[in-house]
Amino acid sequence: MPTIRKRALLLLILLILLLWLLGQLLMFWKAPTVIIENNQQFHNLCHASALPPDVNPTTTIFIITPTYTRPVQKAELTRLMHTFTSRLLDTSLVIHWILVEDAPRKSDLVAHLLQKSGLVFTHLNVETPAEMRVDVKKGEKKWSKPRGVLQRNAGLEWVRGSVPADTRAVVYFADDDNTYDVELFREMAAIERVGVWPVAFVGELMVEKPVIDNGKVVAWDVGWNAQRPFAIDMAGFAVNLRLIHDHPDARFDFNQPVGYQESFFLKSLGVAMEHLEPKAGNGSPVLVWHTRAEAINLTQERKRRAQGRPSDAGIEV
Ligand code: UGA
Ligand code: MN
Repeated sequence: MPTIRKRALLLLILLILLLWLLGQLLMFWKAPTVIIENNQQFHNLCHASALPPDVNPTTTIFIITPTYTRPVQKAELTRLMHTFTSRLLDTSLVIHWILVEDAPRKSDLVAHLLQKSGLVFTHLNVETPAEMRVDVKKGEKKWSKPRGVLQRNAGLEWVRGSVPADTRAVVYFADDDNTYDVELFREMAAIERVGVWPVAFVGELMVEKPVIDNGKVVAWDVGWNAQRPFAIDMAGFAVNLRLIHDHPDARFDFNQPVGYQESFFLKSLGVAMEHLEPKAGNGSPVLVWHTRAEAINLTQERKRRAQGRPSDAGIEV
């Protein structure tokens, strides 16, 4: 081969190499937000805030959400994502979504949804052991075992390990199927210890609520067991971050009677009735609804799966 052609070839190879390098550099530069893993420092997290840069946030709301794989999971999480990124949200708030999968590993579905949201987020997972799960086939009732216990505890541990105690913040446990008015988060921002408010569609009532007298909670107007120390649904309270740090053992626990998760947790925070701060005006309008998705009828799908022809082959639903 004449030297001139050899040189041209060499130059061409060099050029291709250079272009490839440039491509890699560009890809790296435009890399999507990385999933924030357990135990990373809080200060590294403020890279994906949905806030415009000129707003000075004052309070972070850490929202701990247990979630598990099922046909309606993405629909539920999409609804929550739009709530937490709503333009109706007070601009002085930062929502930090701690989504905890009840699964042996993190799923791509959840990871992609979080990345797309633009929210500050933490993606965790912990699987509920089989013996702690309700077995409907054995005739066990859905409410016979508590749900979301280990997932909420994982969220709490992450908060304790990653968020400095002097951060102005509130922690809220938001199940993935409820419906939330963003006004609720504005109410939470002012919580000093524990804030409480009514929740719709619990205890076979339109609305369960704390009974307020002279600005203090004096009793519970509920459909079931008003004798519980704190007769309130998970969606009906939020806690100042300081309390979580001051009570490092506060958590949820499988070994509690049915319906006592909230009471056990609030007691483990050293909270008494007189400490409760009623929020959301005089409780009207309601700002959170304990909604549940209708069980999806998948009779035809099961037949198709048996034939090896699922309707969602290659489709994320
Ligand atoms: C009621 C309360 O509102 C919940 O806060 C409480 O955890 C639950 O009862 C209970 O008894 O443990 P409910 O609508 O019956 O809520 O419960 P789900 O919405 O089915 O589950 C609560 C949360 O746990 C949800 O975020 C759900 O995604 C999650 N979950 C449920 C799991 O992580 N794994 C499961 O196997 C089931
Ligand atoms: Mn629910």
